[in-house]
Amino acid sequence: MPQPPIPHPTLATPRLRLRPFRAGDTDAMHECYADPGAMRFWNHGPHANRHETARELRRCATATPSRHRFWAVADAASDRCLGMVNYHNANPHSRTADIGYLIHPAYHRQGIATESVAALLDFCFAVRDLRRIRAFIDPDNTASRSLAEKLGFRCQPPQRENLRVDSHWRDDMLYARLKTDHARPS
Ligand SMILES: CC(C)(COP(=O)(O)OP(=O)(O)OC[C@H]1O[C@@H](n2cnc3c(N)ncnc32)[C@H](O)[C@@H]1OP(=O)(O)O)[C@@H](O)C(=O)NCCC(=O)NCCS
Repeated sequence: MPQPPIPHPTLATPRLRLRPFRAGDTDAMHECYADPGAMRFWNHGPHANRHETARELRRCATATPSRHRFWAVADAASDRCLGMVNYHNANPHSRTADIGYLIHPAYHRQGIATESVAALLDFCFAVRDLRRIRAFIDPDNTASRSLAEKLGFRCQPPQRENLRVDSHWRDDMLYARLKTDHARPS
């Protein structure tokens, strides 16, 4: 039986709109993907040129939506792209998915990730009816670990040599949040 299409709605929060990417977002996303600090814990090094970013955005836009979907995180007033959030490796049988997030360094520590990832989680739990969301996080990625803990993720045993970056393997902390877990009160 054909499956219904996976929705890709715009998700609204008080300050943000999570919306599909547009070609005009490439420069802002390239500033994220080319930043060595922002890419320090990513699964590849910083992008060397804008073409790499444009290719990455095209790849994400054409991924199978039941498994992978990504949103531009845009300022609600100006529509400027501030970063991206995604789910990937979604499994409709186990009703699990992994999430990723990347916020432009100029907008760090303003609660942008907290607000946008909370909206992504609401979508995953309420609309996609997933039960368990995972985030694989480098032990030294304090910002990402703080974010996950704030949003109610619980730390699982470390995953040794879970991430390959070029010819190196790195450990990950596995954070997981169930539909029935709650975010920390702010
Ligand atoms: C991780 C990331 C998305 C956080 O984005 P952000 O918008 O700055 O996060 P928020 O402002 O919502 O902060 C969330 C929590 O993390 C804490 N935090 C953020 N940056 C931090 C840092 N550099 N050091 C320590 N804590 C930090 C905040 O204080 C906040 O916790 P609090 O409310 O208890 O104070 C951002 O740092 C980023 O894009 N990093 C590069 C990409 C990346 O590593 N992605 C994750 C891969 S697993």
